[in-house]
Amino acid sequence: MTTPANPASGPDILTTPAAMQRWRRDHPGELGFVPTMGYLHDGHLALVRRAKAENPLNVVSIFVNPTQFGPGEDYERYPRDEQRDLSLLRSAGVDAVYLPSPADMYPPGYQTYVTVEALTRRLEGEARPGHFRGVATVVLKLFNAVSPTRAYFGRKDAQQLRVIRRMVRDLDLPIEIVPCDIVREPDGLAMSSRNVYLSPAQRAAAPIVRRALDTAATAWAAGERDAEALRQAARNVISSEPLAQLEYVSLADDETLEELEGTVDRPALLSLVVRFGPTRLLDNIELREQHA
Ligand code: PAF
Repeated sequence: MTTPANPASGPDILTTPAAMQRWRRDHPGELGFVPTMGYLHDGHLALVRRAKAENPLNVVSIFVNPTQFGPGEDYERYPRDEQRDLSLLRSAGVDAVYLPSPADMYPPGYQTYVTVEALTRRLEGEARPGHFRGVATVVLKLFNAVSPTRAYFGRKDAQQLRVIRRMVRDLDLPIEIVPCDIVREPDGLAMSSRNVYLSPAQRAAAPIVRRALDTAATAWAAGERDAEALRQAARNVISSEPLAQLEYVSLADDETLEELEGTVDRPALLSLVVRFGPTRLLDNIELREQHA
């Protein structure tokens, strides 16, 4: 017998993989899933709205995943506000929230990890060794608990989206990965839970990241196809802002993320990471012929 989900009384809260799997067995049918690390913003809520529009049942997970943070990264201080998140998800009308603990996800003796190979060697994989091993592992574990029909990921974490797509294809997971557009603040800054780390001066300067991408996209639209010229257009904008330090700019094949040289003759991803003090801001834009 199926227990109907009842969003009017608030989402069901499941805190262990076994409880989540039981809930799923009791709620068969198409299900949309939004995995998050909490501290929800409008970008997450846009994923939830899309999932709700496309599925009769919806689950959101909140789990700050320790295995995707490297030593010295911000795992401990990553922003958390469970009560606020739950209240936003109740208003959004999700059916269930999966809130596992690190001890339930990685009990003593845990030793199994998922590695997506070539795709994770560059860009964020190079800057944050082990990061995508943690992401792929936790996402597979979340998928195994929730058994979604569709899972929703933002395009802001462009490499993450490609890593998850690759894992789903390679491991024959019967899940549709739905990419969703970047949600931005009115001044163009891509929404991210980590934006709270920015000082007021850094926050005021941060829209330069979007401006750098727009400048390269404008050059692309005007017919520029030289990979290095497009990267340089973005670099020039970032170097005009004293608070911004460019960590990398990449113009890569949109699917494999292999860096492109010479004439760009295929869909490409222009991505960059800019540091404001210790805070890394990621952003990207897809360059395709129809933009011309
Ligand atoms: O994008 C995120 O918030 C995380 O990397 C994810 C996909 C929830 C895995 O922890």
